[in-house]
Amino acid sequence: MFRRLIALCLTVSLAAPVLAADPPADPPPFRLLTSDVMNALVQPRHLKLGLAGQAGNWAFADYERRNLQGIFRRWAAAIPDYQGQKVADMIQVTVAEPLAQLDAAIKAQDAKAFKAAYQALNEGCNSCHAGTGNPQVVIRSPDAGAFPDQDFTPPPGN
Ligand code: HEC
Repeated sequence: MFRRLIALCLTVSLAAPVLAADPPADPPPFRLLTSDVMNALVQPRHLKLGLAGQAGNWAFADYERRNLQGIFRRWAAAIPDYQGQKVADMIQVTVAEPLAQLDAAIKAQDAKAFKAAYQALNEGCNSCHAGTGNPQVVIRSPDAGAFPDQDFTPPPGN
């Protein structure tokens, strides 16, 4: 039994250098595409912002609205052109105004205004999708929590 264990350890240690092959010295940079930015960075923030607003958690809604606005700005800086269209200009005409309306609604802690501004944001998202040849990507207000590990209700004293 003990001998078999030693044999096993020897096999593993001999095999290890083969398994742990060195990564290439100069790996190509991993570049995010617009679909990656949307899927990984824009969509979860849009969703969390919606859930926070529905829960009346204004502190978190403000935090996430900033993050969403920030990722739009950083996306435009990193990928200035989408199939010949200027990303910064498209952001300006589609979601800039709804994001400003959301800011005002959150500051005023106005649930009704938040709902309307969030709806306008959805329309902004969708008008950019349609305008870039992606009408199959349709955004709407969330109606169920997709983050079961995060509580969106306001913490005490908020
Ligand atoms: C300025 C233009 C623009 C705006 C504004 C925009 N998108 Fe997009 N979005 C795109 C483009 C372009 C694609 C398609 C990318 C591709 O596949 O080449 C896309 C794709 C997506 C996808 C599909 C990604 C996938 O792989 O499933 C989601 C989800 C998405 N957007 C969410 C949003 C949400 C939510 C908003 C609003 C908060 C938004 N987008 C606003 C341009 C925009």
